[in-house]
Amino acid sequence: MTRADQERRISTATASVPDTLRVAAMVAAPTIAVGIIKRRPHMMALAQTIQADRAGIRLLRRLRAKYGDGPLRLRVPGRSVTLPLAAEDVGELLAGAPHPFSPATREKKAALGHFQPNGVLISEPPERAERRRFNETVLEPGQPLHELAAPWAAIIRDEAASLRGAELDWTGFDQAWWRVVRRVVLGGDNAADREVTDLLDRLRLDANWAYARPPRRRLRERFLNTVRRQVGWARPDSLAAKLAKVPGDGALDPAGQVPHWLFAFDAAGIVTFRALALLATHPVEAERACSGLGSLDLAVPHQLPYLRACVLESVRLWPTTPALLRESRVDTEWGPDGTTEFVYTPFFHRDSERLPYADRFEPEIWLDGRAQENPALVPFSAGPAICPGRDLVLFTASTMLANLLRDNRYELRGTSMTPGRLPATVNNFGLRFESIAEPLSAQRTG
Ligand code: HEM
Repeated sequence: MTRADQERRISTATASVPDTLRVAAMVAAPTIAVGIIKRRPHMMALAQTIQADRAGIRLLRRLRAKYGDGPLRLRVPGRSVTLPLAAEDVGELLAGAPHPFSPATREKKAALGHFQPNGVLISEPPERAERRRFNETVLEPGQPLHELAAPWAAIIRDEAASLRGAELDWTGFDQAWWRVVRRVVLGGDNAADREVTDLLDRLRLDANWAYARPPRRRLRERFLNTVRRQVGWARPDSLAAKLAKVPGDGALDPAGQVPHWLFAFDAAGIVTFRALALLATHPVEAERACSGLGSLDLAVPHQLPYLRACVLESVRLWPTTPALLRESRVDTEWGPDGTTEFVYTPFFHRDSERLPYADRFEPEIWLDGRAQENPALVPFSAGPAICPGRDLVLFTASTMLANLLRDNRYELRGTSMTPGRLPATVNNFGLRFESIAEPLSAQRTG
């Protein structure tokens, strides 16, 4: 630890009761209200109207000015809860998984336990290590193009083609997105596959309530059995097929990892649709994103670095995991054993006091090293529990965008997205585009 770090540590402070209440009202409550596990459309609409994240970001800025950069202890009765306010602390915290800072917090166990009791994110050692390895083997983080990218590119091309029409709204996009997800993960989109995602939706609504709603064990069992059956088919060109080839015993519960994959692909759809809104309102970036697309055969996979950077920007600007939680397993400088560490990612991603690009759409930061320099820009988390699905997400999202943008020009309707002053909260359910069928060659050069 450097001298500067030590000095920063000394300034660790405890928030006053009113400030703790402000964090509860302006950060925790809105994050929970919109639905942590499955977004609630009416609450998202309200959150956008009042720009809920803006208030949370401003509050944390005020707290940093008042208490300093060190981790801030909140006064929560019966609990020890600490909020990092410095980017370096976020990096250190996330690097410390799963020990001393476990990702398997009590809140996540209560919420995710509704539908994925054996998921890696809520697993404790020693199962965690094996489940993590398994997830990495199947999902291939670090590989821009998964070994199954070729059939998936063709699937995405197919489903994107179904989105032709004068208007593109969330409902239409979401249906096509889920067809992609079922085909990629399970290998098909028949009635039984759709039953899997329908049951998952019901359980995710319960999961929004975490401990406040007891798990519906029979429904969960029916869901998990349906997953097991569909995964057991190991249909070609799917994650299920790859999963079947990876050795694993009963404690690992290979099929028990699949609910998280399906659940998390929902966020990828949200992120893709918001990225489309960014590109529809930023002509210069859209031009660059489309440059060269006209000559590509999109039925085969491509790395599409600029479009991937656009997707990363979409998650930076509107993180789909706004609360990154950790729980200390021993006493640390963050607090006693059992302390909850709460990283509020919108604060770090949109910190206009420290980031010149805070409220701008600037995909270049992911290509020129600026984003990687900042340990608190964590769209997919960081450290040993970093999202193992990140490359898969960047591939599916960028490939979908490439297909949409190659055949159409989009104009955003009804949502304001002013370049340079981007909103803090965007309701994905309300995004609507006029879509003008125009092959790329007629729209742009290059
Ligand atoms: C836009 C889409 C996605 C985003 C932004 C995202 C982000 C994240 C974040 C922030 C975490 C860490 C959560 C925490 O520490 O509490 C995480 C974990 C995880 N993600 Fe993703 N994710 C996405 C999609 C996916 C997909 C599609 C898959 C699988 C196909 C996936 C698989 C996982 C798994 C298995 C974990 C748990 C890792 C562990 O505990 O070691 N994610 N993701």
